[in-house]
Amino acid sequence: MDWSPRTLYFGADYNPEQWQRETWPRDIEQMVTLGVNLVSLGVFSWSLIEPREGEYEFEWLDEVVEHLHGGGIRVNMATATASPPAWMTDQYPSVAAVNREGVCLSHGGRQHHSPSSTVYREKSVQLVEQIAARYAEHPALEMWHVNNELGCHTPHCYGEEAAIAFRQWLQDKYTTVGNLNDAWSTRFWSQSYSSFDEINPPRLTPVGTFPNGSQVHDFMHFSSDQLLRQFIAERDAIRRFDSTHPITTNFMSMRHISAMDYWKWAEEVDFVSTDHYAEAENPKAHVELAFAADLTRGLAGGKPWLLMEHSPAAVNWQPRNVPKDSDETIRHAMSHVARGSQGVMFFQFKQSQGGSERFHSAMVPHVGTASRVTRTMEDLGQQLGALADLTSQNPPTAPVGFVLDYHSWWATQQLNLPSVDLNYSELAHSWYDTLHALGIRVDFVNPDASLDQLARYKALVAPMLHVVNDSRAKTLDRYVSEGGHLLTSYFSGVSDESLKVHLGGYGGALVRELCGVWVEEFVPLRANETVMLSNGWTGRYWTERSQSRNADVLCHFPPRGVADGGVAFSRNRRGAGEAWYLGTMLAGDDLVSAVSEYCTAAGIRGEGSADLEVLTRGDYVLLINHQEVTVEHRDQTVSAGGVRWITQ
Ligand code: GAL
Repeated sequence: MDWSPRTLYFGADYNPEQWQRETWPRDIEQMVTLGVNLVSLGVFSWSLIEPREGEYEFEWLDEVVEHLHGGGIRVNMATATASPPAWMTDQYPSVAAVNREGVCLSHGGRQHHSPSSTVYREKSVQLVEQIAARYAEHPALEMWHVNNELGCHTPHCYGEEAAIAFRQWLQDKYTTVGNLNDAWSTRFWSQSYSSFDEINPPRLTPVGTFPNGSQVHDFMHFSSDQLLRQFIAERDAIRRFDSTHPITTNFMSMRHISAMDYWKWAEEVDFVSTDHYAEAENPKAHVELAFAADLTRGLAGGKPWLLMEHSPAAVNWQPRNVPKDSDETIRHAMSHVARGSQGVMFFQFKQSQGGSERFHSAMVPHVGTASRVTRTMEDLGQQLGALADLTSQNPPTAPVGFVLDYHSWWATQQLNLPSVDLNYSELAHSWYDTLHALGIRVDFVNPDASLDQLARYKALVAPMLHVVNDSRAKTLDRYVSEGGHLLTSYFSGVSDESLKVHLGGYGGALVRELCGVWVEEFVPLRANETVMLSNGWTGRYWTERSQSRNADVLCHFPPRGVADGGVAFSRNRRGAGEAWYLGTMLAGDDLVSAVSEYCTAAGIRGEGSADLEVLTRGDYVLLINHQEVTVEHRDQTVSAGGVRWITQ
């Protein structure tokens, strides 16, 4: 179902069950004063809605919904399945997830259940049916919120039910155990299987050995699919009662989250929503935020998306939870909106008095509404109210497509690689940060996007695209041959989807044919070692013994030493386009120079900088000043730390 948002949403998770019911009408009055128009309700309410197995108590929730409706506030109704109640783990111990070491997780936090638990699946679907039947036709209902941050805490379970489901998943994928043995290269180390029944999740192996890498990789894929199945089961339960309201679940498209292949997930939701929590101690937190918001827009594939949660000020789970100042809160919110979010939602409306999240900020903090944070919320609500026109407008297609691949991310998290410094996320962020600093906007793209989808971009960047099968290699080759530009990096193209290495030169067809570089041997650098490249740049982490086949070598590794003058940065004309290759990690100005050279060759120029973002959405342009001084841009003055919307 396509989602047509009616407005820009402004609101938060509302968890009224933490408070006396006499306080609820006052909460709702405060919401109205602040301009709140949507709340996510019931996210963690399972134990109150179903206090004993099969006994449902909705009267309290009905009352809250009526109050909200009376205040004109729309409801994003949660399925309440995010944290199973104590009776469940007590009566059905198999529900608990088991970690890699074989330890069962306990009730007392949240999301302690196994994504493969059949009891959890069955009971959660029964709960969702009850909730859907009760509220599907309520006039306050705006949308459905399935579960909560699926996979946030427990993406992988290694227990017995997970093993059974994993075997079935493998059987569906490989059909015969012989095919699996081939794909996993099990002849070595005596790992061959004669039946799917012999296979387990990659549980703890003896110290100093590694589990089979293909097994681990398939387990990552399986685990993402198991969580997605939970989403689908809950979604389909809602659909049995409601065919009109859109259904979403909140993704976490952030730097530290990689367990879910959100490209695949995005196909199953009616619209993409995400949560974002800024890195409190990172002075460039807004750049990571920009990455996350751009990625979410990419996952949404040009359709509307929503920022479902972020924090009004401080979080409570980072080492030092520095609160955002008021300007920063507005900048963070508006950065999401300019990147396409259909509104701004927070966690949570009213700060918890007790429990696990009592020190997490909220729209209404412990001191009450006479507070800096609430005044900021009021200001933000007014600013959003004036931007209602944006609802039907979208950011334009960016000049650069940024290929982000969860499978390559998983593959490069393994323990048995040539260097611990191979870090997918770090490399991807360093490239993104550089494009961002150059004011060059990107759209994130699916690594399996079609040629037509890729052809929308003047240039692609594909850092550490490690997993490249024939189809990916061919599509990228055609994209370049027909006039596109591609920049890829070391450790790209190395493996197929089972993590078997392509023979005859590392990087296979992608690096050898398309980039025109023959990589003979990896030469990772020692800890803190650097090399000076022939043009004076500094290479980090990685070098290669390699030769150009037909690429123009723009700079090379030192002529002596193991890398022996190999290709550090190169450009290869192929058909009507060009494929560029970066064989080391660059930082700072060196990376800016390399990326600028590439973008200039592709005819791309940016506007703005890391500290002054210039973002277009439809007829509007947003200027965000992240500096502590006033700046002028496009004849506009933007105050220190301020934002300014202009129409073009
Ligand atoms: C999210 C979660 C919320 C809340 C928030 C605090 O991960 O969905 O329920 O815990 O973090 O930052």
